[in-house]
Amino acid sequence: MTSTEVRPPGPKGRWLVGNTLDYDRDRMGFLRAGHERYGDVFSFDERTIVVRDPDLVHELLIRTNDDFSSASSAVATRFEARTDAETARAWMTARRAGWRGLNRATVIAHTARLRALFERTLDDTGGRAVDVMPLMETYSGRAAADFCLGPDADGIAEVVAENTAAIEPLSGSSQLFPEWFPSRAIRRFRRARDATLDAITTRIHRRRTPHPPDQPRDLLDVLLAAREPEMRELQVQRLIRGILLAAYGVPAASMTWTIHTLVTHPDLWDRVAAESSAWDGDDEPPLSALPQTEAVIREVLRLWPPTWLMGRTAVRPTTLGDWRLSTRDAAMFSPFLLHRDPRWWPDPDRADPDRWLRGETPRKHAYLPFGAGPRVCVGTQLGMIQLTLGAFWLTRNYRVAAPDAAACAPEFHNLLVPQGFRASFTRV
Ligand code: HEM
Repeated sequence: MTSTEVRPPGPKGRWLVGNTLDYDRDRMGFLRAGHERYGDVFSFDERTIVVRDPDLVHELLIRTNDDFSSASSAVATRFEARTDAETARAWMTARRAGWRGLNRATVIAHTARLRALFERTLDDTGGRAVDVMPLMETYSGRAAADFCLGPDADGIAEVVAENTAAIEPLSGSSQLFPEWFPSRAIRRFRRARDATLDAITTRIHRRRTPHPPDQPRDLLDVLLAAREPEMRELQVQRLIRGILLAAYGVPAASMTWTIHTLVTHPDLWDRVAAESSAWDGDDEPPLSALPQTEAVIREVLRLWPPTWLMGRTAVRPTTLGDWRLSTRDAAMFSPFLLHRDPRWWPDPDRADPDRWLRGETPRKHAYLPFGAGPRVCVGTQLGMIQLTLGAFWLTRNYRVAAPDAAACAPEFHNLLVPQGFRASFTRV
């Protein structure tokens, strides 16, 4: 018998419910214990394996679209993720065109407007203590709407917020009902999705004269100028909605962790503040002028990757390493565990930005805050800019009070967030 004929070992679980209850009680504790006991690969149940080896994780990601679908991706949301090849192909064509929209000209045009959005979001709190995650969702919702639709962004952040809220109960549920199922949650989801698509369509029709291709204001300009025959209006609409949703909660969680890390590590706040107060240019600095701040952000993403659990589903019988998978079997992995593995990261739980400044190369594939392979985050560059400049503006212009920050436990839910993190923001 070759090893590819067997499933990896794993906890047996309880009668009828398997491991679900134990997992739901303490998700990270359960995964850690599984790896400790069984090694880098273990079976969660008879259809799901959990992987921690960086090379296997990378293989899983680069074989996405061929042997695996991203149907169990936390970002794609389980309810919406479609596995059929046609849908995946349409998304990939649109994604390639969108990639061009994430070019320098568009990002620079957007960055010039980003600061006003950031400051408006903080100033609107009037210096009162607020929940930071919803505040950062407001900011990233506005930023994503601006990036995609620039001058036509008004009202978009609100429909996206409702769309995200309507997805939340469905992706948290282990039941997968068809879309026509007459439940209240599914009706709410359909209404919210259609409202978002309608709002985007109205703005596509309104944009009769896109800016010239060499001066795009936003993603819509790029998509309309470069429209290829196969890039139908429906694809433009779906791509923009996909980006608006992906650029809402995930960057908001990262920005929340950035603020949390800065207020709980005064030495890191001081480092970033030293760099931000030293900048005397009129424009926003490029990331190359902020090496300390960028290293802090890399460290925040290492310690607190918002998509702490990711997965793929086999679309055909296949293998991963020594293990055999049948069609619809899932393979999951946690970037959180990869990023804190002491085999790859010395003193892994310590926030140490210097590890990025010493010029050491991290273990290949052991750092994946933006994923990898054909479905890698399309907003990697933009996300880094938003987070780095966010820390820059924060330390330059605000005082933050968050007396209870150190007591906030990490919450491993759909996204990884600091539970109950509240803070007040006052201009200095
Ligand atoms: C700032 C922090 C961000 C982080 C940590 C992050 C992380 C991720 C990760 C891990 C994935 C891959 C999920 C998977 O493979 O299952 C992903 C996908 C994606 N991200 Fe981001 N992201 C960030 C910001 C953004 C921004 C600003 C945008 C908007 C431009 C964006 C757009 C997307 C899209 C559209 C996808 C889906 C790609 C696909 O399935 O083809 N992200 N992101």
